[in-house]
Amino acid sequence: DGCIVDIGLDSDVRRRNPDVTADDVIDASGKSIIPGLVDAHTHPVWAGDRVHEFAMKLAGATYMDVHKAGGGIHYTVDHTQKASGQELFSSLRSRLEAMRRAGSTLVECKSGYGLDLETEMKMLEVIDRARHELSIGVSSTYCGAHAVPKNKTAEEATNDILDQHIPEIHRRVEDGTLRVDNIDVFCERGVFNVDQSRLILTAGKALGMNVNFHGDELHPTGSAEMGAELGALAISHLEEISDKGIDAMSTAGSVGVVLPTTAYILRLRPPPVRNMIDAGMAVALGSDFNPNAYCLAMPMVMHLACVLLHISMPEALNAATINAAHALGVSDMHGSLEVGKYGNLVILDSDKWENLIYMFGCFQDVIQHVVYKGNIVHSRN
Ligand code: NIG
Ligand code: FE
Repeated sequence: DGCIVDIGLDSDVRRRNPDVTADDVIDASGKSIIPGLVDAHTHPVWAGDRVHEFAMKLAGATYMDVHKAGGGIHYTVDHTQKASGQELFSSLRSRLEAMRRAGSTLVECKSGYGLDLETEMKMLEVIDRARHELSIGVSSTYCGAHAVPKNKTAEEATNDILDQHIPEIHRRVEDGTLRVDNIDVFCERGVFNVDQSRLILTAGKALGMNVNFHGDELHPTGSAEMGAELGALAISHLEEISDKGIDAMSTAGSVGVVLPTTAYILRLRPPPVRNMIDAGMAVALGSDFNPNAYCLAMPMVMHLACVLLHISMPEALNAATINAAHALGVSDMHGSLEVGKYGNLVILDSDKWENLIYMFGCFQDVIQHVVYKGNIVHSRN
């Protein structure tokens, strides 16, 4: 059933399970085995690339300069609204396959480039289709409050989400045609403020979704404190988290999902991860794959985390496996190699697993096999 039956010395495992047969046997002598990586934060459903904005940012424009000039999320929204579900599914599939080749076996996937009801539902349907059709774990997140649509105020957008989007999701979940695991908001100055974010997150939580949102990224807004009060399972970014926010989140048991690609690409001050870990917060990693930060590979993210966020390689592995699984509420089945959990693993062609992180950009050479629910889904040539 795709789950780990036993772990131990080969001879003991064979003795304890005389009837178990295998379709594939991998001789992993001299190699390392780690749990399948978990990417706790991605925006993988969109059309229209933004490589031209990378050039603008290199020339000095900030993220918000680009956003206010009608670029950024708005540019992607225009293209995503026009794309068909099939087009969005095809690009999602190739992105998820690339993530899997880089070792990810569970990926959180957000909507949020639709903003209008119709496109948000199209995105959630595409994510759900990926969950059913592809051999990779998918955790689906409704992020309709990712930006304020051009023709609305933040207050109008909040009301639209509360009165139209969330009830529609509720209907579809009730009739069994949709599954949504998490609720997200971009809580940021000039986007959704703390009160609007609280209303939206509370409405999602009432439907059983995990509260898991973008906070304290570009400005200190008190997102962490608000999220802790709501019992958020996780809050992402946190570049600008306050000391009070760190205390509140560690007391509430909220996971801090840190995204080193964002700080790297936007040249932001990185989140204070050492302080977060020292305060007892669980820290997880995500690629934040999106048209602003085009990174599909968790080994790159782990390397950036070690160098820019000052964490050790074991901490990075922990953050990209069990803590990331916990940030998605599924650490019972994902994120570690234990009997009863899914057989999701990465076999590395090295007796030192750290080479996956150390060999920056060469993870393809280190990853020999990726196994998802007991089946080999990728092998290095
Ligand atoms: O996580 N901060 C908001 N959302 C994304 C960026 C999305 C975009 O620029 O398209 C993020 O970095
Ligand atoms: Fe994000």
